[in-house]
Amino acid sequence: MTPRSGRDLSRIALQVATEASRLVLAGFRQNPTISYKAGQEPYTQYDVQSEELVRQRLAELTPEIPVVGEEQGGEAASDLTWYCDPIDGTVNFMRGHPFFAVSLGVQRQGVPLAGAVVAPALRMWWRGSTDDRAYRCELPCVVSETSELEHAVLTTGLPVRGRAPEDSGAELVTRMSPFVRDVRRCGSAAIELCMVADGTYDAYFTRALSPWDTTAGAAILLAAGGRWEPWVDAGLAYELASNAALHGVLSERPADVPRRAKPGSPGVT
Ligand code: IPD
Ligand code: CA
Ligand code: CA
Repeated sequence: MTPRSGRDLSRIALQVATEASRLVLAGFRQNPTISYKAGQEPYTQYDVQSEELVRQRLAELTPEIPVVGEEQGGEAASDLTWYCDPIDGTVNFMRGHPFFAVSLGVQRQGVPLAGAVVAPALRMWWRGSTDDRAYRCELPCVVSETSELEHAVLTTGLPVRGRAPEDSGAELVTRMSPFVRDVRRCGSAAIELCMVADGTYDAYFTRALSPWDTTAGAAILLAAGGRWEPWVDAGLAYELASNAALHGVLSERPADVPRRAKPGSPGVT
């Protein structure tokens, strides 16, 4: 079999994720049935059906590449592996909030290579691969050039529910907020990664994500010139996605953020 390029795989990802996103959109604001996994994570029949469709189409198009999905699991391979989040932003989806997406990415030897994120209620999609570039709605996109914290618009998905405040990262948001333009919380890691890739946001930080949440978005971000790296603050492990210009400011040590802010900023004496 001919080796697959990342570019080809990003196109396949877009094709399949678009098909699944149509199925999901048909259930949007239609009172989907909500069930709960162990651990009280909600899901709907559209999460299940979307992953089923993705698996069927990938079995036809790339039968040699195994699939790991949020709803059915699966085993990663040593070379290429698909990661599927059939609805990223399930809580948004079930509440009628339009920030949800089908996220389909592929890793090569554990590294994000290519993927697509399709947000049907927003009528937006992103795709990209690290051997090509990133696209938003088929137009090339790149990360922002923002290099100063005071102009930065960040987004986060910190898992605060059911966690002790000192384990949630919420304190980091409190500490950082006075020194940046603003901090958002959209409820879909895949979309937030893509919105760093296309320059809408300058950075995204969160904790405790899974590869189906991040593989597609991280591949698109890397293809757009961004960075995606582990980040540690006050003993807590985070993931940080950012444009290249802001990465150094944020990644060295977030605890120093106030000291790096310009004199005259709130809290800086
Ligand atoms: C969740 C979303 C959310 C993030 C959570 C994820 P799901 O995925 O991406 O933004 O904060 O950590 O689990 O459950 O909607 O697929
Ligand atoms: Ca997810
Ligand atoms: Ca999901």
